[in-house]
Amino acid sequence: MQSKKVILSGIQPSGALTLGSYLGAIRNWAALADEYNCYYAIVDMHAITARQDPATLRKMQYEHLAQLIACGLDSKENTLFIQSHVPAHAQLAWVLNCYTMFGELSRMTQFKDKSAKNDENINAGLFTYPALQAADILLYQADLVPVGADQKQHVELTRDIAFRFNGIYGDVFKLPEPYIPKVGARIMDLQTPTKKMSKSEVADGGCVLLMDSPDDIVRAFKRAVTDSETNVRFDPVSKPGVSNLIQIYSVCTGKTIADVEKEFEGKGYGDFKPVVGDAVVELFRPIREEAQKLISERAYLDNVLRSGAEKASLTAITTLRKVYRKIGFLERPQ
Ligand code: TYM
Repeated sequence: MQSKKVILSGIQPSGALTLGSYLGAIRNWAALADEYNCYYAIVDMHAITARQDPATLRKMQYEHLAQLIACGLDSKENTLFIQSHVPAHAQLAWVLNCYTMFGELSRMTQFKDKSAKNDENINAGLFTYPALQAADILLYQADLVPVGADQKQHVELTRDIAFRFNGIYGDVFKLPEPYIPKVGARIMDLQTPTKKMSKSEVADGGCVLLMDSPDDIVRAFKRAVTDSETNVRFDPVSKPGVSNLIQIYSVCTGKTIADVEKEFEGKGYGDFKPVVGDAVVELFRPIREEAQKLISERAYLDNVLRSGAEKASLTAITTLRKVYRKIGFLERPQ
């Protein structure tokens, strides 16, 4: 029997889980569990490229785990783990740093965006972040990396690094492919629909969280910025707000964009916006209830993390050993 192909993806526990990360990535993670051997990491090491409050960071990791399981990621079918529990990530990241070019890292839009937003803490970790992400992916010989559109550039750089490394040392790494949904790959902020919905900008009311109350969700959609026309038509360039809402509604209900336009023909934004809000409320309701239950089951969550780290380590160490051997590191004498 041919073994299953491998998926690896990750999420930063640097803020609460958003509608954007759910529709862009996590929804697909849950859908792919049967077909693939799946590894999903809560990437605490990536999170500290921005300053984190230690107590909040600890809490966020449990919350992310509870919410991921509630989103349908069965902890037996998927390997769920914390990045820093598998030291091979840091070890391979250092090696890959030495095979990643300064120019390549300088071109990363996430680095440019984040350093522009936080010019007081442009640390080296923020710059070399993509080499750590490449290590995350390559350690597991992942075939597929399900992510939102904003992570495509990092997955492409991962391929370039792997290709370069393989060119020197032979076939060490599998070249991974990004897996980006056709609809929902870039959910925009409800208040500023020209900007990606982001957990780091919850304050403006444009970001919807998985754990928000139904009232808050409906309110956020009623207040969503649209345009001065009235028709529900998909046109991301001239109608970014409405187009974002159409996308969200389409993914939540499984209807095509054309179907959504037809459903609201002759109706205005006042009819459309609360319906989108309700669709999100219904999508999130069972997830929120399950996550609320799981968060108090600390022993269970710790068990998931223990076995996740064990399983992930076995695969990761095999790749790391091979890399060390290829580049000429000596094995530690026993
Ligand atoms: P992060 O934590 O910012 O986001 C997690 C996932 O959610 C997607 N996403 C979105 N998709 C659509 N619309 C949005 N508004 C939106 N916001 C977030 C992201 O594309 C991502 O797939 N660097 C990564 C974490 C990472 C990783 C990895 C991912 C670390 N190592 C290895 C894949 C493989 C990040 O910051 O994601």
